[in-house]
Amino acid sequence: MKKIDPKQLSEHENYKFLIGSIIPRPIAFVTSISEEGVVNAAPFSFFNIVSSNPPMISVSIQRKSGEMKDTARNIRANRQFVIHIVDSENVAQVNETAANLPPQQSEVEHAQMSLVRSVKIDVPGVKEAKVRLECVLEKALELGGDWKNPGCDLIIAKVVYYHIEESIFENGRIDPHGLGAISRLAGNDYAKIGEQFTIERPQ
Ligand SMILES: Cc1cc2nc3c(=O)[nH]c(=O)nc-3n(C[C@H](O)[C@H](O)[C@H](O)COP(=O)(O)O)c2cc1C
Repeated sequence: MKKIDPKQLSEHENYKFLIGSIIPRPIAFVTSISEEGVVNAAPFSFFNIVSSNPPMISVSIQRKSGEMKDTARNIRANRQFVIHIVDSENVAQVNETAANLPPQQSEVEHAQMSLVRSVKIDVPGVKEAKVRLECVLEKALELGGDWKNPGCDLIIAKVVYYHIEESIFENGRIDPHGLGAISRLAGNDYAKIGEQFTIERPQ
């Protein structure tokens, strides 16, 4: 076994080991809105469930040279956002939104996606997703770095409304193959859902 102390590694090397080890990662495509009213969109794979009672999720947004990304700034300012599950049909458009655009330019327009109103919050989602979660901020934690320059913004949010495409919803369950969720590996690599199997849990 190779033995490595993270303290001996650069930030980029740590990033590479983490994103190469913790796979596959689901991808949240997040829409948020700026104070000027621009709808911002970006993908995040540091994304997971925090709790089912109440339904809560987390998204971790790294700072870039100490600067908060637009998504983190928007969520911290107006406490609302929409998460879309990235699937094989929308992944190419989602990838387009990861371009570094200035805050006044909308990634949604850039990727030619169509906005759709939310039910419980003021931030719109996009139509190009089979599952959409309307979220409100529970807690934003500044972590890592030092007290002056945190390394990331960990966003923990409550899901206040679900939108699930009818065709993939059967008997109260989401059909994983219908959803066709895509996961992120390392670098520019992604994976589709592979072979599925079942293991009974012991009593
Ligand atoms: C598939 C994918 C997953 C990503 N995951 C993350 C992530 O978990 N955290 C993060 O800070 N950036 C992540 N990024 C990079 C952001 O999407 C990128 O920095 C984006 O421009 C941020 O947009 P914003 O400044 O509008 O918030 C990811 C990019 C891609 C393509």
